[in-house]
Amino acid sequence: MFNRRKFLGSSFLASTAWFLRTPDAVITGDDQQPTASGQRNSPLVISTWDFGKAANAGAWEVLSKQGRALDAVEAGVRIPEADPTIHSIGYGGLPDRDGFVTLDACIMDEKSNCGSVMCLEHIVHPISVARLVMEKTPHIVLAGNGALEFALANGFKKENLLTPESEKIWKEWLQSSKYEPVINIENKKYSPGGPLNHDTIGMLALDSAGNLSGACTTSGMAFKMHGRVGDSPIIGAGLFVDNEIGSATSTGVGEEVIRVVGSHLVVEYMRQGLPPGDACRKAVERIVLRDPAKAKGLQVGFLAMRKDGVYGAFCIQKGFTYAVHSATEEKIYESESWFS
Ligand code: GLY
Repeated sequence: MFNRRKFLGSSFLASTAWFLRTPDAVITGDDQQPTASGQRNSPLVISTWDFGKAANAGAWEVLSKQGRALDAVEAGVRIPEADPTIHSIGYGGLPDRDGFVTLDACIMDEKSNCGSVMCLEHIVHPISVARLVMEKTPHIVLAGNGALEFALANGFKKENLLTPESEKIWKEWLQSSKYEPVINIENKKYSPGGPLNHDTIGMLALDSAGNLSGACTTSGMAFKMHGRVGDSPIIGAGLFVDNEIGSATSTGVGEEVIRVVGSHLVVEYMRQGLPPGDACRKAVERIVLRDPAKAKGLQVGFLAMRKDGVYGAFCIQKGFTYAVHSATEEKIYESESWFS
């Protein structure tokens, strides 16, 4: 089980009034974020999993030119959305049990503007549709056919998202038709008859104006029931941004994240003064303690960025990675975990 370190020994001690204002942080322990620039207006992007590295590079193109965090996160997550070798996001995502590739995505900016699409088919870039929902409609969420009609009316092209490779994997799965989400760790790739891995990209960015935004996009659990929606397009569950406090996103079994409104919970823990890594750990704790036996068999990971650029992560099972890109580092880290 997770071993608490003395918070007083951590590098966060050097950082600021956040700590002084919130004595609770002293006792809750372990902030495991690897670095902390602590510099306001120093752009930064972080995202889930190893494929976050390429996505971050896309976001950095925007951030490094003093662009907006919102534009950065959209540009960033479009990269894995278009990559057919990633079977859990966008084009090439694994289908539901009936063979339909259904996508979920959401986006949120520094003014709490947000947009989301759920169960969207045939569109390679659901994140861009989510952004249009945010910017062009009086609503926050569009789902299913309504989301598709909206996308088509706004110039998106209807495409077949089921690649030959994903179709093959689905047909192999049909032989057993056993729905069993596996513990999601980095470097566990699909092999015929082997475990099916699933992961979402959640991305958080801070721009040179000091504003935060986030994006989250996925094809959801492979071989889910048709119509199933996970945490990723649900504001507060898969993603939450509060420009005064920080932002958070999640990956893993969406049902467990929704139950605790995970990303919002992480931001609220930061509001109470916990450093990002500790805030993520507390959210994981809420999931694990609800049903410890069940938690042994599932993965959830949270990633958080505080308003001043300090970031952290925590997950249930070892093996959750996240990518960081700033002016001074471009790196992948492994998150600390509840179970070792
Ligand atoms: N976290 C993504 C999903 O459960 O669909």
